[in-house]
Amino acid sequence: MEKIIWDEGFSVGVSEMDRQHRRIIDIINSLIEKQDIEVDSEIISDTLIRMLEYANEHFRKEEQYMLEYDYPGHSRQREEHNEFRKRTAFFSIDTIKHKTTIPKDVLAYLKEWWVNHILKADMKYKTFFVERGVK
Ligand SMILES: [Fe+2]
Repeated sequence: MEKIIWDEGFSVGVSEMDRQHRRIIDIINSLIEKQDIEVDSEIISDTLIRMLEYANEHFRKEEQYMLEYDYPGHSRQREEHNEFRKRTAFFSIDTIKHKTTIPKDVLAYLKEWWVNHILKADMKYKTFFVERGVK
């Protein structure tokens, strides 16, 4: 699986969100790097937990912006964020039990979820926030 290359096409116009998205992509890329090596299942699980913690921090911040500016897509975004939280928590628990490599479906899910979420769901707020002077 190829790493995710962040470019300007991923920019949602709010620098803090871009910075957090890039950090999340870095974590996914570090998992992609380890995709074929056998590692202690705790390492995989720890990375997934770290990703979940960081993603939660990011979701909180993003939802805070949406509430503050009364963004119309706020509840749809919350639903998507919650779905991600649930799936990733399940993956990290499932992984710690018996896996020595990162399951391909987990990696595919993480990569696809974030690329889609940034480029589709988050990109929808770009004009909204830019018009309101958020940088
Ligand atoms: Fe989002």
